[in-house]
Amino acid sequence: MTVQRNILCIGAGYVGGPTMAMIAHKCPHCRITVVDVNPDRIAAWNSGELPIYEPGLDQLVAATRGKNLFFSTDIEAGIRENEIIFVSVNTPTKTFGLGAGMAADLQHWEKTARQILEFSRSSKIVIEKSTLPVKTALAMERILNTRANGVHFDVLSNPEFLAEGTAVRDLENPDRVLIGSRETERGQKARETLVEIYGHWIPREKIITSNIWSSELSKLVSNAFLAQRISSINAISALCEKAEADITEVSRAVGMDSRVGAKFLNASIGFGGSCFKKDILNLVYLCRHYGLDEVADYWESVVKINQYQQERFIRNMLGAMFNTLAGKKICLWGFAFKSNTGDTRESPAIFIARRLLEEQAEIIVSDPKALKNARADLAGLAGRIDFVEDPVLAARGCHAIALLTEWDLYRHLDFQAIFATMDKPAFIFDGRNILDHRRCFEIGFNVYPVGKAPLTHF
Ligand code: NAD
Ligand code: UGA
Repeated sequence: MTVQRNILCIGAGYVGGPTMAMIAHKCPHCRITVVDVNPDRIAAWNSGELPIYEPGLDQLVAATRGKNLFFSTDIEAGIRENEIIFVSVNTPTKTFGLGAGMAADLQHWEKTARQILEFSRSSKIVIEKSTLPVKTALAMERILNTRANGVHFDVLSNPEFLAEGTAVRDLENPDRVLIGSRETERGQKARETLVEIYGHWIPREKIITSNIWSSELSKLVSNAFLAQRISSINAISALCEKAEADITEVSRAVGMDSRVGAKFLNASIGFGGSCFKKDILNLVYLCRHYGLDEVADYWESVVKINQYQQERFIRNMLGAMFNTLAGKKICLWGFAFKSNTGDTRESPAIFIARRLLEEQAEIIVSDPKALKNARADLAGLAGRIDFVEDPVLAARGCHAIALLTEWDLYRHLDFQAIFATMDKPAFIFDGRNILDHRRCFEIGFNVYPVGKAPLTHF
């Protein structure tokens, strides 16, 4: 097949890798190169063991790598040889200086812009794939179009909406693809180029276009709305525990209103992941920057409730276990921030593990995919920490199990056998409400769900 488009992606992370693999799969006429400053990551993308776990990704990469999908550390050649450049570098929360703890740290992003300027010998379309504050495209345009050498850059915003654990499915069949551009002739032409690429597998009516600032803002707002639903249901879970209501019943009744919708109303230990908190804080920072303090306070409360929910989980454990956890063995089922991923970034499990250690509990961490990351997250913390992949062995001799990630495998274990090996009285704290609570109770466990009355033998 003749190559019609040469595409580069800078940043071979959770977004860059899977997104480019999908484009390569759906567009055999495109030749796609993914580059990264991290040579280990690139080596892993070129190996049999990919750097991230994502259902269906192995097959997707196997079908395209070496044909029209390539992974490389040669950023300079990548920029020189490609006409379309996606930028998918990380944009974490700033940890220093003005805006520390709130604003997005744009250093990787700006470094990339300067590299694109330095190595480009021909005009390019540069696409913001990373999640960025509003008006970042303006800064990018200003950096890129500083040289009067006939090389021109058109900047587009094309935020990514995939969720980890379902990335391949989301990329193949997204609810929408959003492309923001300048309304100039050049801007519209660049936009049409990207529309044409996505048009190879996404129905045209799902590809929406907008002005570039709306596109940048829509990404932050989408994540803020999703996180807000979780904080809303988690806030109500606290009330349910006091008022003898059941959060699953409340959530079903509320979610059946088609104006509200049923998704994303599962009470939990709080949301984790690399983006929700960072993107809301970024939104809050923007609002404060524009003097919109009331708006900022409103969105900041979503993050506050999330923190509250995690601390509440610990306090419920303490209250249930006679106000002391010192010397007790507590098994954590799940460490990833959600199921079907090995990612532990901002996982509530990190906070919960840390708090349990502060209470001088011993913890045994179990997870089918995230133990490597869990070891790194907990390195250097004082206290006794063991890592055991098998959840049944992990629970042996423990006083309590805290279920922190909704891995399907935890639903189907032999709870009778697990109970027999545990210290008594045995407790289960189901931070995801996925177990059969009544059955666990009948076996002998004291069961503490989220947002429901506990089932106890006392
Ligand atoms: P990531 O940390 O997994 O990957 C980013 C990669 O960029 C890293 O491998 C890093 O080495 C590389 N990088 C940084 N600076 C570079 C440079 N100058 N040149 C080349 N490579 C460089 O991050 P991610 O999870 O893929 O997220 C990327 C962006 O996408 C973020 O802005 C994030 O908010 C957004 N996003 C993430 C998700 C998600 O599910 N993870 C979903 C939607 C949007
Ligand atoms: C989220 C969004 O869903 C994606 O659309 C977005 O692209 C992405 O952030 C991003 O910008 O990074 P992700 O964080 O991968 O995706 O996963 P989600 O499924 O949204 O889950 C986030 C957290 O919320 C997890 O900890 C999950 O367990 C928790 N959650 C989710 C709940 O506690 N209750 C729910 O009902 C749903």
